[in-house]
Amino acid sequence: MSRIDEVRARRIWDSRGRPTVEVDIVTETGARGRGIAPAGASRGSREAVELRDGGTAFDGKDVKAAIAGIAREIAPALRGHEVAEQAAIDAMLIALDGTPDKSRLGGNALIATSLAALHAAANERGVPLWRHVAGENEVTLPLPQIQIFGGGAHADRRVDVQDFMVIAMSATSFAQALEMTAEVYLQAGKLMRKRGAAQGVADEGGWWPAFASNEEAMDVLVASIEAAGFVPGTDVGIALDIAASEFGRGGWYTLGLDDVRLDTDAMIEKLSRWIERYPIVSIEDPLAEDDEAGMIAFTRAVGSKVQIVGDDFLVTRAALIDEAARKGACNAALIKLNQAGTVTETLAALQASRRNGYASIVSARSGETEDVTIVHLATGWNAGQLKVGSFSRSERMAKWNEGVRIEEGGGPAMAFATAAGLLRG
Ligand code: PGA
Ligand code: ZN
Repeated sequence: MSRIDEVRARRIWDSRGRPTVEVDIVTETGARGRGIAPAGASRGSREAVELRDGGTAFDGKDVKAAIAGIAREIAPALRGHEVAEQAAIDAMLIALDGTPDKSRLGGNALIATSLAALHAAANERGVPLWRHVAGENEVTLPLPQIQIFGGGAHADRRVDVQDFMVIAMSATSFAQALEMTAEVYLQAGKLMRKRGAAQGVADEGGWWPAFASNEEAMDVLVASIEAAGFVPGTDVGIALDIAASEFGRGGWYTLGLDDVRLDTDAMIEKLSRWIERYPIVSIEDPLAEDDEAGMIAFTRAVGSKVQIVGDDFLVTRAALIDEAARKGACNAALIKLNQAGTVTETLAALQASRRNGYASIVSARSGETEDVTIVHLATGWNAGQLKVGSFSRSERMAKWNEGVRIEEGGGPAMAFATAAGLLRG
């Protein structure tokens, strides 16, 4: 047990070269913890709000006000507070901010501070973060969802679908899941070069989606899985993040690449055909955040066959997950720290997901840093799955590599979630 002595915030830069908030906390015994706020590009409207300065500098994305708020209000309030009392620290942050959406001090300021405290508490005990958050509970290395092609808001809307990902269904360890993905990613790059379509990578490191249709992306993905020597759907499955809130509103969906405008029923029909035609095992935000009826209908139609993940739809909020479960929308929840705004609220969302029989996927954002916290949390919280982006760019690889180290360092007792956890509900 030790008290917080110092809280220091600074501006650093994320993987898109944009400002973000970093907080260091030092306890009276000298233990240190660092938290960094990630940033999304396709955000749900009910997420905790980032505090950005506006104006002309850095396209309005500077975080001077968020950092000033930490120095002016958060640091004095936390000084002298017991560092191990995460729930009390988070409750204090929420009360200090005083708004329902964390817009006054900023969700970015709050999550960076909350994470810094968590790390300092783990360092105070001298244990890795995954062990610190696990308590007496079971831990497992999560099953990764790894992007092969990036799209949507992460690739100038070159294709409508945001993430074309793979899941190593037959992997029996985290390390093996990465090996299998590495082969698929490599083959996908070769296929793109052969097609004269090698145009670099998108925001999360997936190959740039130089395709004539969303379906073509899935055709090439299946070909990449086969070229890597795997059986699609058995060894390696496809996971999509449609991120439909980006192109759907009021029950209408405008698919730019296919040049069509679909109503909810037609959108569900289209996605259902994809599920029949391709080895899709997971599909995220298939309908927009405002299309609850669509989510319920889609879950009823295909929820027994595939994982249906709510991201923008659930925004890591326990109350929204409970409500969705009551109504029969989705069967899995994406868990993003900065959607919730504090560690305690993120954990509450994960617990809501679990008690409703939903699967849980801890997720990074498209704007990331070298920070690897989410890998520890996904493991220590036994979330079951982890989504970090693609298999290139160091802000992504830092996280996959941390999983390798955790798996090794945890010894034989460190189990791997495997694809058995894909459909827990
Ligand atoms: P974002 O997207 O981080 O750009 O919001 C990630 C996702 O939709 O899962
Ligand atoms: Zn998403």
